[in-house]
Amino acid sequence: MKKTVSVIGLGNRGTEYMGFLKYFHRSKVEIYALCDKRQQALDDIAPKYGVPKERQFLSPDVFFAHGVLSDALIIATQDASHYEITKQAILTGYKYILLEKPVSGVRAEYTELRDLALAHGVLLVICHVLRYSNYYSKIKEIIQSGELGDIVSINHTENVGYFHFAHSFVRGNWRSEAESTPSILAKCCHDIDLIAWFMDAPCVSVSSVGSLKFFRKENAPAGAAPTCMGGCKAKKDCPYDAQRLYLTDPFYKAKFIKFMKRTLTGKTHNKKSDVEAAVKNGDYGRCVFFCDNDVCDNQFVTMTFQSGATAVLEMNGFSDKMFRECHIVGTKGELVGYGTKLKKHIFGGKTSNVKTSKLHLSGHVEGDIRLIAGFVKLICGETTDLTNITTIEATVVSHDIALAAEQSRKHGGAPVLLESE
Ligand SMILES: NC(=O)c1ccc[n+]([C@@H]2O[C@H](COP(=O)([O-])OP(=O)(O)OC[C@H]3O[C@@H](n4cnc5c(N)ncnc54)[C@H](O)[C@@H]3O)[C@@H](O)[C@H]2O)c1
Repeated sequence: MKKTVSVIGLGNRGTEYMGFLKYFHRSKVEIYALCDKRQQALDDIAPKYGVPKERQFLSPDVFFAHGVLSDALIIATQDASHYEITKQAILTGYKYILLEKPVSGVRAEYTELRDLALAHGVLLVICHVLRYSNYYSKIKEIIQSGELGDIVSINHTENVGYFHFAHSFVRGNWRSEAESTPSILAKCCHDIDLIAWFMDAPCVSVSSVGSLKFFRKENAPAGAAPTCMGGCKAKKDCPYDAQRLYLTDPFYKAKFIKFMKRTLTGKTHNKKSDVEAAVKNGDYGRCVFFCDNDVCDNQFVTMTFQSGATAVLEMNGFSDKMFRECHIVGTKGELVGYGTKLKKHIFGGKTSNVKTSKLHLSGHVEGDIRLIAGFVKLICGETTDLTNITTIEATVVSHDIALAAEQSRKHGGAPVLLESE
């Protein structure tokens, strides 16, 4: 018999995971019930998956009032709701839960969820999708093989990309610490998770510097207006002009693929006029210098691990690149990663290009697909092996480091010591 999966949050992430379940795992699982606070989302998505009206819900409270509806639950709502909804899910009796990151920006909340999951025998998996990609799995495999010797340091950069940063962290859903979390947690909990996973040792000390340097009203050029289509006189030379980014420049339009348009309009199916109206009147048409954003646009984090190894993470919102770079140094060799290209140098020996995947899918799609495949195996009872599965326990580590970084940054970079529980 097929296993059943319900989904709360039918936005970009929730529907992407549903697509993978349908296309790759339809013989094993079916989508059973759906919940989203937007009627439009239910109307657009439910028919595609044959979910009848009686299994569509507009609020998590009503959804949970029906008890346990399915074998597993995916929670892909926005950040601020993760804690409440996941707590309700555990207390209602769901045993397999896949939750989007970040879990919460409040330590007491994410540790409570960890403890509740343990007490109720719940497998709570967090979507640290990068770990599941062939590329990062290969890096982990090389480190574990011992070829590089003992790991001494990791230098990792998350190039968010200048227009991606403006879209998500200046105009969009992750611009405000109060509505989401600090950008080092929202964007880089993945990177911190990878670093901690590679180091395989507790992190003992963290320090950080960074700021919201650029996207502030005092940096607005002469002639700038509150919205890009509202009479701005500085458009011509502005790389952040929303009209160009979302409407007229074919290069950016290609990058702002379907899901970005959905973010702009809130609709699954968009006409050109919907996108135009959203850019003219909506949040994504605002001047990047006159938004209500407060999260850092650049930040460095240094970490010291119990093994004595050290790591540096850079998050920046200004690069033309939109991919991660890393340099992992061991006592016998090193790895240099550039996007999805990986080079291995063994000291006094060979230098080689490491093959990680036949086909590199864009962004972190490959990790998304493999995360879902791993989750399906777990809910179908095909494996109980949790090695390398990103459970809430691993998430506590990455979130603790991110919050320590924020604490340090707000205190001029002073080191914050992390105690193991
Ligand atoms: N794992 C990753 O790499 C990754 C990448 C991007 C985003 N995310 C995270 O995934 C989550 C979802 O992001 P998204 O881009 O899909 O957002 P989104 O805004 O496209 O989708 C969120 C959906 O949840 C619904 N919703 C919000 N609050 C709700 C509530 N209380 N009850 C019911 N429905 C509710 C919204 O109506 C919307 O349809 C966020 O937490 C985000 O930080 C993770």
